[in-house]
Amino acid sequence: MVAIADVLARPFFFHRWHLHGGGTEIINRMKNLVILISGGGSNMAALVRASQREDWAGRYQARVAAVISNKADAKGLQLAQDMGLATSVVDHHAFSHAANPSAAFDAALMADIDQHQPALVLLAGFMRILTAGFVSHYTGRLINIHPSLLPAFRGLRTHQRAIDEGCQFAGATVHRVTAELDHGEILAQAVVPVLPDDTAEQLAARVLSQEHVIYPKTIAQLLSAMPKD
Ligand code: GRF
Repeated sequence: MVAIADVLARPFFFHRWHLHGGGTEIINRMKNLVILISGGGSNMAALVRASQREDWAGRYQARVAAVISNKADAKGLQLAQDMGLATSVVDHHAFSHAANPSAAFDAALMADIDQHQPALVLLAGFMRILTAGFVSHYTGRLINIHPSLLPAFRGLRTHQRAIDEGCQFAGATVHRVTAELDHGEILAQAVVPVLPDDTAEQLAARVLSQEHVIYPKTIAQLLSAMPKD
């Protein structure tokens, strides 16, 4: 005989409840995180490593459930597989002949993501502009990291633009995602100096090292503020 309290205390992912009617229902008590990538996946890896190092499963009942890429050759996919994570690809090219390619891609992406019933969807170098329908579907659950001190330098080529403007400081921003590109509530920022003679690559590397700090830290804070089941 196992007491209900003992069952609930077990650190495993699923509980199977036997209902009076004889049916069963799986209740997933974990808060699933789904990470979307398009490239190297270093932010994704930083999130996964933090989740392991800081025991997000034990502390917040949270885990990285899946990594999804819009590019089959994204280096981060292999990295995710090497870390034992479930991965999948939703290739945006497959929808280029649809009547509305962006909406068709986003619908397929949503279907893939929603299999995991995510508590949070984390954009980590995901290089697609998402439709308003996608963004509203994940209201309150969609987070991004952007390599500039927002609201400065929305969009691409952020590091070269900061150098060209003569900025003395650059950085990265973790923010909630809204339908408007690189807008949304700012959750955290990291600041780094722009050094004399910096190239965009040198500045990008300096910023990226700080992204790896603030993104996991922000997600841990969000998870800690979520109600426990
Ligand atoms: C990061 O600088 C991120 O802020 C930007 O794209 C880069 C992705 O790097 N959106 P990685 O794939 O996480 O290594």
